[in-house]
Amino acid sequence: ILTVQFRRTRKHGEPPLIKGWIPFLGKALEFGRDAHTFLAAHEKNNGDVFTVLIAGKYITFIMNPLLYPYVIKHGKQLDFHEFSDQVAPVTFGYPHVSSGKFPGLPEQIQKSFRHLQGENLDCMTQSMMGNLMLVFRQDYLSGESEWRTESMYQLCISVMFEATFLTMYGKPSHTNRHSGMVTLRKDLVKFDNMFPLLIARVPIFLLRGTKAIRQKLINFFHPNKISSWSNTSVFIKERAAIFEQYDRLGDIDKAAHHFAILWASVGNTLPATFWAMYYLVIHPEALAVVREEINSVLKASGIKADPNKDLSLTREQLDRLLYLESSINESLRLSSASMNIRVAKEDFSLQLERERFIQVRKGDIISLYPQSMHMDPEIYENPEVYKFDRFFEDGKEKTDFYKNGQRLKHYLMPFGSGSTKCPGRYFAINEIKQFLTLLLIYFDVEVLEGQKPCIQDPRRAGLGILHPATDIQIRYRLRRD
Ligand code: HEM
Repeated sequence: ILTVQFRRTRKHGEPPLIKGWIPFLGKALEFGRDAHTFLAAHEKNNGDVFTVLIAGKYITFIMNPLLYPYVIKHGKQLDFHEFSDQVAPVTFGYPHVSSGKFPGLPEQIQKSFRHLQGENLDCMTQSMMGNLMLVFRQDYLSGESEWRTESMYQLCISVMFEATFLTMYGKPSHTNRHSGMVTLRKDLVKFDNMFPLLIARVPIFLLRGTKAIRQKLINFFHPNKISSWSNTSVFIKERAAIFEQYDRLGDIDKAAHHFAILWASVGNTLPATFWAMYYLVIHPEALAVVREEINSVLKASGIKADPNKDLSLTREQLDRLLYLESSINESLRLSSASMNIRVAKEDFSLQLERERFIQVRKGDIISLYPQSMHMDPEIYENPEVYKFDRFFEDGKEKTDFYKNGQRLKHYLMPFGSGSTKCPGRYFAINEIKQFLTLLLIYFDVEVLEGQKPCIQDPRRAGLGILHPATDIQIRYRLRRD
């Protein structure tokens, strides 16, 4: 089959075809090393639409962001969930949901995502604030004001992991914090390190110890345990209630679904929080503007920031932090490398512009790679430079970005697109805002002298927010004013 697949030649009406010399792998190695440079080089030679053989799959890349809307709105012949429905169960260890064994389950799961928005988002945002303060206070605010040192990524992940966990799943019935949180986080990081290989369908038994770690992670979410926790979000409660409707889902299957959502809720958020903090801390002038904005929103609401008192910020107040939001968006622009994937359900002709069509074969993947757009100098001047106020103009959010003189409908896509767009995006932005707000009002933060800048680890190209390849040492102390 592989040889037959490799023998494919370009037919009339199809985009240029790039196969490489190694059957099956095709261009996988080059793509994996540096996807952005790889795609830019092929765009230069082959134009803005081309097909590449990557790890046994023919992937057609639509590079020109002006063409994105034609793919995003195209529902009939392009399947949104086929890829994730195939890959997620094997990665997280639950039975295939759309196998016919669980009628209505995929639809109910999709519907549950609405609890990450609207009124429930307000509740989650409020609860997140309390949880962030709890962890910051107990682990980082000792009341003394001398400098202390810490690794930046370590700080981000330990605070955000636990606060997000408590907000989503709730707390034990008799205490505020779960025992075993540090182990859970470390196990999740170990699993997450293998995530690119699991997604590439390397069997889990080949990845030393990963299966046992995944089982340990799954066991943390046994339905009997979850049901004893309090302050659980409506989102998780609703999902637990949905799973109860299916006798064919065993307790461990249900637990595996909960574990998958834990990964979805922190897998990208933790590195995204890191980059948002990192760029601010290494740009003290940007940090000063953002801190000033936070202080003035607090002041206008009559709030005095006191580390010993609870601080609550409404969604409306968070929405007014436009410099902060711009700085987060700018760090997402620089650090996100997700691939938006659609699978062709049949052979068909995909319209890309009024007069432009390409022939697509059944089973082929159509992909958008927004990192190429995020780094396009025509859209973003000096794209490799961090400009904290890039998404801010005349006192409001800047939303007009252009290519070829035409305004782009999609210009920033860290959260995917169309019907696979991340349902947790509002919560994610809010929680990063809350984390940074508390950090900036409680602490002075500086990078220690002699630290090398962080570089991105390319291994997650295509899968979401890139991780830092190395950590960076900071010092922090309680703010005096
Ligand atoms: C899906 C990014 C945070 C829950 C996605 C996808 C992307 C993404 C790109 C789409 C994958 C695809 O195209 O198939 C991010 C980023 C985040 C973030 C960059 C943080 C900065 C969150 C949070 C939650 C969450 C906090 C939950 C609380 C989900 C879920 C899906 C998803 C459940 C799957 C949706 C579906 O199956 O239709 N995310 N995400 N995400 N995300 Fe997020």
